[in-house]
Amino acid sequence: MKYDFDQILDRRNSNSVKWANTKERDILPMWVADMDFKAAEPIIQALEERVRHGIFGYATLPNAYYEAEIGWWKKRHQFTIKKEWIEASTGVIPSLSAIVQAFTEPGDRILIQTPVYNHFASSITNNGCVIVENELTFNGVSYEIDFADFEEKASHEKVKLFILCNPHNPVGRVWSEDELKRLGDICLRHNVLVVVDEIHRDLVYKGTRFIPFASLSEPFLMNSVTCTAPSKTFNIAGLKTSNIIAANAENRQKINRSLNRNEAIEPNVFGIEGLISAYTWGEEWLDQLLDYLEGNRDFFMAFLKERMPKVKTVLPEATYLMWVDCRSLGISSKELSQKILEKGRLRITDGVIYGEAGEGFLRINIACPRARLAEGLERLASVVSSVC
Ligand SMILES: Cc1ncc(COP(=O)(O)O)c(C=O)c1O
Repeated sequence: MKYDFDQILDRRNSNSVKWANTKERDILPMWVADMDFKAAEPIIQALEERVRHGIFGYATLPNAYYEAEIGWWKKRHQFTIKKEWIEASTGVIPSLSAIVQAFTEPGDRILIQTPVYNHFASSITNNGCVIVENELTFNGVSYEIDFADFEEKASHEKVKLFILCNPHNPVGRVWSEDELKRLGDICLRHNVLVVVDEIHRDLVYKGTRFIPFASLSEPFLMNSVTCTAPSKTFNIAGLKTSNIIAANAENRQKINRSLNRNEAIEPNVFGIEGLISAYTWGEEWLDQLLDYLEGNRDFFMAFLKERMPKVKTVLPEATYLMWVDCRSLGISSKELSQKILEKGRLRITDGVIYGEAGEGFLRINIACPRARLAEGLERLASVVSSVC
């Protein structure tokens, strides 16, 4: 069927974090990473059917859940995984927290590549560990890895984990095979476990290939744990359902114990149906979504070039999150994002929440109908022209 991503839907009375947090009704939210699109029809139908059953007691994972997860890895990412490698959990962030607890003692160090998704930092510090930053390098067009710095930091005896974000939120990179191999080899050399967050793996634009880290070699498979979920791909984050892929049995056992300690393992009755229907029947919707998002991305790039030439945007290889370089405006990203909120009535994210390396940048969520995106861009342009 043909999906209509131009449809404008009112989310204000749906307890949405993105919309309900915006008290004043005239504020347009383009911040937190969920989409203003209706889910795929097969997902809605599966949930409706489950609702009609009428009993929502504690749930257990059926075989179809595992088959759907395994099937999606194979058909979309050419990676064959085994059922026993899968540990289900209630979200990637709860998973990361449980993984940190499973493999570290308070005071241990964990490597991340900033600017990066802010909850990596909170999962580390909430569990008494220390953040070690391997800052990504911006070459004016895209982001690169400083491997010498990465190796120096990974070699510290207290560094136990590296949390890799691929595709990378917020800079939009999909790490290449060569980059992944270099990172993985360094981690093997220094006995650092790679925790891979691949939640954005399905939202990759044409011309770029996403490679699951664990698929690259047996040593990488055994020295990694991969977190993933259908939530970003299918806009079902509220169903609180994700998976950890851990081929190494000893690691998996530790993770299972930690998830249980955190009570983050009980499946959600609707999450089960959401995952099965998404991964079994969701491809048609996803392919159309990717075309639409690519159109939004190109619309965004063209708008900025024409109307805000001083502001530069990194062309994302993946994700619906635009990473906008506003440093030429000579104003801090905190002050700029506040002005955009107060004067432009547009809520976007200050880049500095992703680490100091994000100073001067803004993150803008473009997963909305194009007319809404155009409205947001007009609001942005009006503020940017007032500070130029
Ligand atoms: C890289 C990354 N990991 C994890 C999450 C959140 O995962 P969950 O909602 O499953 O906890 C996000 C949400 O934006 C994200 O961008």
